[in-house]
Amino acid sequence: MWSSLAALALWGIIASAQTNSSVFDFPEYPPPGTPDPNSTLASAVAELPYGISTDPALSEALIHYDTGTFGPQIELVHAYYNYWPTGVGVASDGTIFTCFPRGNETFTLAVFNSSTTEAAWPNEEWNTPPAFANESNPGYSIATEKFLFVQSVVVDGLDRVWALDTGRPRVNGTYLLAAVPGGPKLVGFYLNGTNFATYYFPDYVVYADSSINDVRFDLRGGGYAYITDSSPYHPAVVVIDLATGESWRHLDGSVAVSPDPSFVPVYNGVPFYYHPIIPPNAIQFMSAFAADGIALSADGEYLYVTPLTSRRLYRTPTSYLKQQPSSANPYAAILAKEAVQLLGEFGGHADGLETDSTGYIYLGSQEHNAIHRYNATTGLVEPFIRDPVIQWADTFSVVTLQSGGNYLYFTSNQLWLAPDYQNGTDLRTKPYAMFRVPTVGGRATQTDLHNEE
Ligand SMILES: *[C@@H]1O[C@H](CO)[C@@H](O)[C@H](O)[C@H]1NC(C)=O
Ligand SMILES: *[C@@H]1O[C@H](CO)[C@@H](O)[C@H](O)[C@H]1NC(C)=O
Ligand SMILES: *[C@@H]1O[C@H](CO)[C@@H](O)[C@H](O)[C@H]1NC(C)=O
Ligand SMILES: *[C@@H]1O[C@H](CO)[C@@H](O)[C@H](O)[C@H]1NC(C)=O
Ligand SMILES: *[C@@H]1O[C@H](CO)[C@@H](O)[C@H](O)[C@H]1NC(C)=O
Ligand SMILES: *[C@@H]1O[C@H](CO)[C@@H](O)[C@H](O)[C@H]1NC(C)=O
Ligand SMILES: *[C@@H]1O[C@H](CO)[C@@H](O)[C@H](O)[C@H]1NC(C)=O
Ligand SMILES: *[C@@H]1O[C@H](CO)[C@@H](O)[C@H](O)[C@H]1NC(C)=O
Ligand SMILES: *[C@@H]1O[C@H](CO)[C@@H](O)[C@H](O)[C@H]1NC(C)=O
Repeated sequence: MWSSLAALALWGIIASAQTNSSVFDFPEYPPPGTPDPNSTLASAVAELPYGISTDPALSEALIHYDTGTFGPQIELVHAYYNYWPTGVGVASDGTIFTCFPRGNETFTLAVFNSSTTEAAWPNEEWNTPPAFANESNPGYSIATEKFLFVQSVVVDGLDRVWALDTGRPRVNGTYLLAAVPGGPKLVGFYLNGTNFATYYFPDYVVYADSSINDVRFDLRGGGYAYITDSSPYHPAVVVIDLATGESWRHLDGSVAVSPDPSFVPVYNGVPFYYHPIIPPNAIQFMSAFAADGIALSADGEYLYVTPLTSRRLYRTPTSYLKQQPSSANPYAAILAKEAVQLLGEFGGHADGLETDSTGYIYLGSQEHNAIHRYNATTGLVEPFIRDPVIQWADTFSVVTLQSGGNYLYFTSNQLWLAPDYQNGTDLRTKPYAMFRVPTVGGRATQTDLHNEE
């Protein structure tokens, strides 16, 4: 049966080949109607790109090359000449907040007061704790309502400003102090600078050597905040019930939040190994950094996460993360880990993640000087923007401006060139940059008011 069918098929091939004049007579490729590849692919052709031939016979050969760019035009909105930035949060009135990891910096949360300067926000008092080092507890920092080290600033769907404080300042620009309870905190302000809420964590939720990194808010109902603990010793997600103030950990040690132990990224085309400043100064894989950026799907159903040093994207249904593990709920931690979904590799690795109202998940792509976006409908990562001036797209903020327009703002901070990664040598160049790029979707407000957006 099989062999007679195969013979029939072979006869068909011979018969059709005989009707054509040449075996090289292929159909047109790409087929008519195929979209212009220039709209998404960073490639072009040119005569003698980079002057690589002196032979006149080759002067008109159009050689394919990589332009380094695609996507909508990015716009420089700020140049940082003072401190090194990580986070960005933009309010609908266009006010731009930013934060600076603190060594000896005199402020750690700031607002732009011109396109080249920043000012302490809400004021200098909030940015001036009574001390950094804990006199009675060497190696530890202190408990204080003031800011120690603001790692992330987020403007929520109600235009409120949240500062995430690791509670772990660096002393004299060298080592990180450990946290004591009352140091790490999430502090909320109205746009006018009035503090309306502060959440602290017990020492079994945020550990002394935790590194709380980024936060996303779901303001539906009583509300939840989701925070990454990017400590390589115990990576996890920390959840706060905003109504009760209770907090708990999930996904402890899960692959979804853990570094890839043999990760070798490539920046500006150069393979990168980590040169730590800590003795014995041995060169390492860039595997010391756990989950960093997170994004909450526009409908609040999934928390997207990727370890900083991994090219894999994961998500977890928030219904599992909202369950507080306890003796009354003993299976919650295991069920949440089992609910993690691997969405596959995304062709790069990311620091910042962000959501917009259409459902896209924007993903930094540090190896490609790019930002890509994940389409949950198709399961594909799509090209969004790429430009050689994108030098580590650290953190994102999508906003719908009252003055018109939807934008994604992002810091570009040359992170891998910082002394921590380069055995103490600073290879960064000032100014650091903030860019924005227009988006179709606006801010996903994550509130009851605009539930579906
Ligand atoms: C072979 O010839 C047929 C009939 O002329 C034509 O329709 C078909 O496109 C040809 N195939 C190829 C591969 O060119
Ligand atoms: C795509 O780019 C190439 C190189 O710049 C150019 O020659 C070609 O015309 C472009 N195609 C379209 C459809 O614009
Ligand atoms: C911005 O704030 C800084 C710090 O407070 C201050 O020194 C500077 O004069 C301000 N610049 C402008 C343009 O307001
Ligand atoms: C210093 O650390 C001790 C032990 O953790 C803690 O009890 C104390 O509150 C800390 N001091 C300050 C000023 O926070
Ligand atoms: C910071 O450096 C100064 C000057 O070298 C030194 O006096 C001080 O003890 C250091 N502080 C800490 C907490 O190590
Ligand atoms: C802050 O620390 C950095 C290095 O850690 C140093 O280059 C800079 O001069 C210091 N600034 C001040 C004001 O002490
Ligand atoms: C700040 O804004 C909040 C919320 O809009 C308001 O309740 C409060 O009165 C304002 N405070 C001041 C000092 O304007
Ligand atoms: C994702 O892809 C689908 C199918 O092509 C498309 O309809 C949709 O607009 C895309 N964007 C998002 C955010 O889903
Ligand atoms: C890193 O810096 C230290 C201190 O300057 C030096 O002793 C060591 O050789 C350096 N390591 C490498 C791999 O360059």
